[in-house]
Amino acid sequence: MKDTYILGIESSCDETSCSIVKNGREEITTSTSTQISIHENFGGVVPEIASREHVKNITFVIEDCLKKANMKIEEVDAIAVTYGPGLIGSLLVGLEAAKTLSFVYNKPLIPVHHIAGHIYANSLVEEFKFPLIALVVSGGHTELIKMNDHLSFEKLGGTLDDAIGECYDKVARVIGLSYPGGPKLDKLAHTGEATYQLPMPLNDDSYNFSFSGLKSAVINLAHKEKQNNREINQQDLACSFQNVAIGSIINKTKKALKNENINNLIVAGGVAANGKLREEVAKLAEEMNINYSIPPLSFCTDNAAMIAAAGYYLYKKGIRADFNLNAQSSVNL
Ligand code: KG4
Ligand code: ZN
Repeated sequence: MKDTYILGIESSCDETSCSIVKNGREEITTSTSTQISIHENFGGVVPEIASREHVKNITFVIEDCLKKANMKIEEVDAIAVTYGPGLIGSLLVGLEAAKTLSFVYNKPLIPVHHIAGHIYANSLVEEFKFPLIALVVSGGHTELIKMNDHLSFEKLGGTLDDAIGECYDKVARVIGLSYPGGPKLDKLAHTGEATYQLPMPLNDDSYNFSFSGLKSAVINLAHKEKQNNREINQQDLACSFQNVAIGSIINKTKKALKNENINNLIVAGGVAANGKLREEVAKLAEEMNINYSIPPLSFCTDNAAMIAAAGYYLYKKGIRADFNLNAQSSVNL
């Protein structure tokens, strides 16, 4: 059978990325330009600056990707692009680039939902076995999704307030870590002990999550210690927070796998890079005797390989977009 090459473009937040993926499973090459060092100065992503940086970088990452792959655009079968959710100005840059390539080279345009992309990062690791549960943990999402087949997404539960990554970044700021705090907090937590008492969020029978109460508990604790002229122990607070946050994610994931009687788990999104989560998912899989996959770190945070991978399955299903495709800041999977 003829191989299918998809060129993917991702620009929903602060990474400008282009990738070529073969048959939805094999990354040929990916070129990513990250804006972290720019937004670090502001303590978070500044949307207007992000859009401008994407404009500066988009042509470079596309050219660089093709050059590294030693391919011409003529050789790819379709152009896949993230249309949402994300920052409107950022999304539009990738979208316009994809539309232009699609028009000039007469290639089908494939619309990819950012979270479908995160989920399909796992397709670059191993073939999906259905039914499966996808645990999506990122800066904007915390969801448990059941899939009976490719591109069939049934949401079992999600966060009622903050996303887990958002909570990590806010707690990291309270502890005194710079943006993006998630990975730094993760590292620090491994050097500490869980000496601070924090409440386990939403310990109920649902598949939902809640992280705003946990975030407030950390903020209140830090204020109290300050008022009493006591220094907080950064490592121990990081460890205490991480144990509860990841504990909550694992509890609900276990519940969903058990109740739905599912033996396959995939983990996706930026927070899938978390060391503690990776350890606990491995333990859970062993305890429940189930299959699991977590992408390598480079495919956990935003990248275009995952968009090209999801794009392949959409392409095979006959999904196409026309040039009216617009960016959407918030859109259901
Ligand atoms: O998926 P992603 O790159 O962007 C979104 O689609 O949201 O996720 C970014 C989020 C940020 O909140 C970042 O702090 C968090 O993922 N993150 C981590 C780790 N690495 C990235 N959070 C905890 N531990 C990590 N190791
Ligand atoms: Zn993402």
